[in-house]
Amino acid sequence: MNKNKILLAPSVLGADPLNIAACVESLDNNFDWLHLDIMDGHFVKNISFGPAVARAMRKRWPDAFIDAHLMIDCLDIMLPEFIDARPDLITLHAELELQILHARLMQIKKAGIKAGVSIGPATPLEFIKPVLNIADLVLIMSVTPGFGGQSFIESTLDKTRELASLRAAFKYNYLIQMDGGIKAENAEQVAAAGCDVIVAGSAVFNAANPAEYARDLRARLNKI
Ligand code: DX5
Ligand code: ZN
Repeated sequence: MNKNKILLAPSVLGADPLNIAACVESLDNNFDWLHLDIMDGHFVKNISFGPAVARAMRKRWPDAFIDAHLMIDCLDIMLPEFIDARPDLITLHAELELQILHARLMQIKKAGIKAGVSIGPATPLEFIKPVLNIADLVLIMSVTPGFGGQSFIESTLDKTRELASLRAAFKYNYLIQMDGGIKAENAEQVAAAGCDVIVAGSAVFNAANPAEYARDLRARLNKI
């Protein structure tokens, strides 16, 4: 995966749920990945999309890099379903099944899909240190998982900085992603902390001109 250019991954959770495809296409390709938030109403207090939406996205955009962020329990049943939908990356939360996190990530990687691990704002980096050597991506949540449109929690930037120095010190290969509350006003700060992939939902899709907003956001990310 490309480590130099900072990538923009619009979250389709921020799109009009009755017009997701039109919203994505209105961005005129001013994005790098498509971020799909999967929520089950149990691990987080919201329900979003199931495997059928992941499959439909794959079918509609065969060449897009689809980044599935799983905020769900019942991985025994649901992880194979999402693997079958063939996203390019599946990210799991470390807060779930910590004792078998390594095995879960390997299950994804063995299926030929990149494996990401995520921690919420209240979870220390220590939780994921044992899997940093196998993670393709680490997602630092900058809001409490569950909803779009929340405010960015600044203290989470410290984890991003630490992850960037750990990667340099141990020659790890993961990309660093941040997700939640990111918009034009704070994008440069997030990029400067060492982030490689930035998720933005409401800021992009609620903009008066989403394509222009996404183009500007990408330019800001890559200014430094
Ligand atoms: C929150 C989701 C985010 C969310 C981001 O649990 O993981 O991806 O959609 O939305 P904004 O950019 O609106 O904070
Ligand atoms: Zn997300």
